[in-house]
Amino acid sequence: MKSPQAMICLSAFSRISFLFYGLAIICLITSATVSASYDGNETDHLALLSFKSKITHDPYKVLTSWNHSFHFCDWSGISCGKRHKRVIAIRLGSQGLEGSLSRHVGNLSFLRELYLRNNSFQGTIPHELGRLSRLRRLYLDANKFNGVIPANLSGCSNLEELHLGLNKLVGSIPKEMSLLSKLSLLVIQLNKLTGGIPPFLGNITSMEVFSVAGNPLGGIIPDTLGLWKSLAGFGCGGCNLYGSIPYSIFNLSLLVNFSLPGNHLTGSLPSEIGNQLPKLEWLQLWGNELTGVLPPSISNCSKLGRLEMGNNSFSGKLTIDFSKLRDINEIYLANNNFHGRREADDIRFIDSLRNCTKLVTLELYNCNLIGVLPISIGNLSDQLKFLNLGDNQSFGSLPSSIGSLVGLTILDLGPNRFKGKIPTAIGKLQKLQYLSLSSNQFSGPIPDAIGNLSELIIE
Ligand SMILES: *[C@@H]1O[C@H](CO)[C@@H](O)[C@H](O)[C@H]1NC(C)=O
Ligand SMILES: *[C@@H]1O[C@H](CO)[C@@H](O)[C@H](O)[C@H]1NC(C)=O
Ligand SMILES: *[C@@H]1O[C@H](CO)[C@@H](O)[C@H](O)[C@H]1NC(C)=O
Ligand SMILES: *[C@@H]1O[C@H](CO)[C@@H](O)[C@H](O)[C@H]1NC(C)=O
Ligand SMILES: *[C@@H]1O[C@H](CO)[C@@H](O)[C@H](O)[C@H]1NC(C)=O
Ligand SMILES: *[C@@H]1O[C@H](CO)[C@@H](O)[C@H](O)[C@H]1NC(C)=O
Ligand SMILES: *[C@@H]1O[C@H](CO)[C@@H](O)[C@H](O)[C@H]1NC(C)=O
Ligand SMILES: *[C@@H]1O[C@H](CO)[C@@H](O)[C@H](O)[C@H]1NC(C)=O
Ligand SMILES: *[C@@H]1O[C@H](CO)[C@@H](O)[C@H](O)[C@H]1NC(C)=O
Ligand SMILES: *[C@@H]1O[C@H](CO)[C@@H](O)[C@H](O)[C@H]1NC(C)=O
Ligand SMILES: *[C@@H]1O[C@H](CO)[C@@H](O)[C@H](O)[C@H]1NC(C)=O
Ligand SMILES: *[C@@H]1O[C@H](CO)[C@@H](O)[C@H](O)[C@H]1NC(C)=O
Repeated sequence: MKSPQAMICLSAFSRISFLFYGLAIICLITSATVSASYDGNETDHLALLSFKSKITHDPYKVLTSWNHSFHFCDWSGISCGKRHKRVIAIRLGSQGLEGSLSRHVGNLSFLRELYLRNNSFQGTIPHELGRLSRLRRLYLDANKFNGVIPANLSGCSNLEELHLGLNKLVGSIPKEMSLLSKLSLLVIQLNKLTGGIPPFLGNITSMEVFSVAGNPLGGIIPDTLGLWKSLAGFGCGGCNLYGSIPYSIFNLSLLVNFSLPGNHLTGSLPSEIGNQLPKLEWLQLWGNELTGVLPPSISNCSKLGRLEMGNNSFSGKLTIDFSKLRDINEIYLANNNFHGRREADDIRFIDSLRNCTKLVTLELYNCNLIGVLPISIGNLSDQLKFLNLGDNQSFGSLPSSIGSLVGLTILDLGPNRFKGKIPTAIGKLQKLQYLSLSSNQFSGPIPDAIGNLSELIIE
């Protein structure tokens, strides 16, 4: 049996002899070159060589510096701890690297960050990464990894950020992930993951951003996710989710980005949503099967930038007061039914949009809005580019104030029940590229000014 001393002596000896050999060669070639003294950990050295050996294409020659002239701590993309000279980070994002990820990276036991975003790594994510107990940040997103998310990743007990988005991963989100008690970012969007959202993930109470958008996960939203008290970003768009949004989710008062578009979610929104989620900046629920009213409490989400509730089955008069929503830039409510039962004043809410100076998009296509278009339409933001009131039942005359919306590129007003003359002021909309006035009851001539709109492509 070899004694530990014997092994150390042996490895020390081989290192010294290697050093002399290296020096001799370098002296022969060029006396000016200083050789690296090789006192790093051999385990790390071998693991990095293995990493390099699996790279089949290195278009920017970033791994050329990974050679014997330098200590591996000086190789490009490598950071070492100052004292112990062990690899603590590999940062090789956007280097066009092709190949697979060596499983021996799992031997870099001091590694805290592995940043390989936006390359062309393929093959599977080695389960040996699960041995990296000091790893805090793992960025493998925007590559071509296939296979499953290894359950062994749960061994990375210090992991804080896991980025696996934009790969070709299949299988389910391993329930073992719930053991990652320090995880705050789990971003695995745009893969092919199935098997639903594991309820156990609710145990990761440090979660701040969870994005699984664009995976055919299926299933329901587990109510245990309401345990994520620090959650700021929740992205599950296009995940084939069913059922209603659990009420516990509306208790997550730090939510900034609430994005669940393109699912099959049913049920209605709690009337207090705007008071429960006061920090909301993005509320994206378009393309679901949601019913009930859009709660007026949304008037209190003073930071809201995007309100995207189109393509649902919301009903009842729109009573959101937008006057406090100074940052709103996109309102997309198309394909709902916002007709209030009695009065024909469904469009009056436009008045409250006057102070929304950042509004770019107002999309109200097919909302069954019945009523007169208020003159205040002309007081909308000069940033407004897209205004779609098509397929509603707006009657009366079209206010000429609409000519004040000089930023408009798209104006869709048909079909509706507008009467009277087409205002000449429309000729002031010099940036207009698309104008639809069709299927209304306009009378009189089409104003000549419209002919002067140089950008206009279709009418
Ligand atoms: C190198 O690191 C490995 C793994 O942490 C350890 O087992 C080994 O003793 C280290 N070797 C030296 C020479 O420091
Ligand atoms: C990584 O560690 C494993 C297990 O300790 C070992 O078998 C393997 O040879 C190591 N890889 C390298 C490249 O040193
Ligand atoms: C080692 O790396 C340096 C720096 O990139 C490079 O100039 C040198 O040509 C490399 N040597 C070999 C043998 O590849
Ligand atoms: C991805 O990397 C390539 C270089 O390989 C670079 O040109 C491109 O801008 C990067 N894309 C992003 C989104 O960072
Ligand atoms: C991965 O987990 C399996 C059991 O699930 C275990 O047998 C294996 O040793 C683990 N591998 C590593 C590298 O931790
Ligand atoms: C995780 O959460 C589930 C309920 O969702 C619970 O039954 C289980 O005990 C929790 N596990 C741990 C390790 O906390
Ligand atoms: C909100 O989430 C969407 C979808 O996940 C993402 O594209 C967007 O960048 C996020 N926005 C903010 C402000 O965090
Ligand atoms: C929401 O939070 C309150 C106060 O913490 C709690 O009493 C209530 O049970 C929670 N509701 C849900 C549905 O989680
Ligand atoms: C908005 O917030 C105020 C102050 O908290 C509250 O009094 C009011 O009822 C809320 N409005 C709505 C519509 O919920
Ligand atoms: C909304 O539904 C309409 C009609 O079904 C469809 O044409 C449109 O693409 C959908 N838009 C979105 C953003 O889902
Ligand atoms: C717009 O802001 C002005 C000045 O701050 C205020 O007097 C007015 O009431 C606001 N109008 C609306 C519709 O919120
Ligand atoms: C609304 O626009 C009209 C002109 O169309 C202007 O006279 C009026 O001052 C504007 N009101 C506000 C509150 O900006």
